[in-house]
Amino acid sequence: MIGRLNHVAIAVPDLDAAAAQYAQTLGATVGAPQDEPAHGVTVIFIDLPNTKLELLHPLGENSPISGFLEKNPAGGIHHICFEVEDILAARDQLASEGARVLGSGEPRIGAHGKPVLFLHPKDFNGCLIELEQV
Ligand code: CO
Repeated sequence: MIGRLNHVAIAVPDLDAAAAQYAQTLGATVGAPQDEPAHGVTVIFIDLPNTKLELLHPLGENSPISGFLEKNPAGGIHHICFEVEDILAARDQLASEGARVLGSGEPRIGAHGKPVLFLHPKDFNGCLIELEQV
């Protein structure tokens, strides 16, 4: 069901410092910061030859990233995102296998303008998984 790895998202305590590190130290192509108020994050996309990275930083109150950074003050991998062709079919298949979808269970529009869902990390070895319909 899952297809390509779309991105790996990393929560960072200092967005400017992280962007500079990826651009200068690692020589990556780093985009401009984008505020995503509906998701409570500011995101920077980094294009790699075979996938993307998302640097995530809290935006506003009640950001889903704030608690993560409190537990992981140096930052860390927050989620990984797999592509699916049909997100509703994927959701229904996962539910039938007992996997829990976070939130209402209805896809939301993610940072790339495509429908996304998140799966409970306790069902996937501690890893928060995002599915994105491509
Ligand atoms: Co993501």
